Amino acid sequence: MNSLKTQAIEEINKSSELKDLNEAYRKYLGREGEIGKILKSLKDMAEEERRNIGKEANELKAFLEKQINDKKSVFLNSAKKKAGSFDISIPGRKARTGHLHPLTLVKRQIEQIFQEMGFSIVLGPEMETEWYNFDALNIPKDHPARDMWDTFWLKNSKNLLRTHTSPVQIRYMERNNPPIKIIAPGRIFRHEATDASHEINFYQVEGLMIDKEISASNFKAIIQEFFSRFFGKVVEARLRPSFFPFTEPSFEVDMSCLVCEGTGCSTCSGTGWIEVMGAGMVHPNVLKAGGIAPKDWQGFAFGMGMDRLAMMKYKINDVRLFYSGDLRFLNQF
Ligand code: DAH
Repeated sequence: MNSLKTQAIEEINKSSELKDLNEAYRKYLGREGEIGKILKSLKDMAEEERRNIGKEANELKAFLEKQINDKKSVFLNSAKKKAGSFDISIPGRKARTGHLHPLTLVKRQIEQIFQEMGFSIVLGPEMETEWYNFDALNIPKDHPARDMWDTFWLKNSKNLLRTHTSPVQIRYMERNNPPIKIIAPGRIFRHEATDASHEINFYQVEGLMIDKEISASNFKAIIQEFFSRFFGKVVEARLRPSFFPFTEPSFEVDMSCLVCEGTGCSTCSGTGWIEVMGAGMVHPNVLKAGGIAPKDWQGFAFGMGMDRLAMMKYKINDVRLFYSGDLRFLNQF
């Protein structure tokens, strides 16, 4: 029994995995095991011998059981650790939160500035009808000015992706009486070759102010106030005479390019000026289309490119970056 004990201990110590231990268990403690054999042979022994050997055999059985079980739990613990070790003292992984897109930041700031000046924010649909996008804005079907707003027509219908936010003027005038003081931010679409300053979709902010005696000088004051609040400093601006079918007179508003400080770069096509908006006094035909009597009311409208304002503000030289989904760019905001 002593040599059996030595042999069993050696085997248990040697075992390197659960399988070895199960094997040792079967060999010594199992139904046909070595200790079982001894116990079975007790019945043929003399009484005293039986008592002594029986006692010893049972002690050995208990001893080996404990040896095997102890080693088993060592194996099980290390397996558990390997499978799903969990150290509560390790600092957690920080959850990555998203953040606002630069265009959203700019849009919100524009909205806030105009709201502070008493403008309401209204929205219109991105899919428009020919009437709202063109006819109601004094751009009849065969007018050459339609070429300025080449667009995406939707199949089998008169619908199109709006080329500007100006249709929102009409939609709002139809449902509201003057005085009117609104801005309408939103996404617009152009059939256009892309480059550093052109995209097939971008964002505009439309403005409309109608009252009894609103003039171009009101526009100039409001837009200068807007620029200085938006950029946090005095920015140079210039008005150039221009043409839009929906305004008369019309003008183009440029601001000095903040990317190159006016010396000329790819953003401003080398001119030092960035065209940021069109504007003018609302054409009588447009007021009429919106159900407002031109003899009683007048006002200004403007439409500016939000992307360009964002490019100026953050010194970005390629409009396509806004739509690239490139995190190296986006994570800077
Ligand atoms: N809708 C014009 C465009 O997309 C911009 C514009 C010009 C809007 C003059 C106006 C305006 O309201 O008065 O190019």
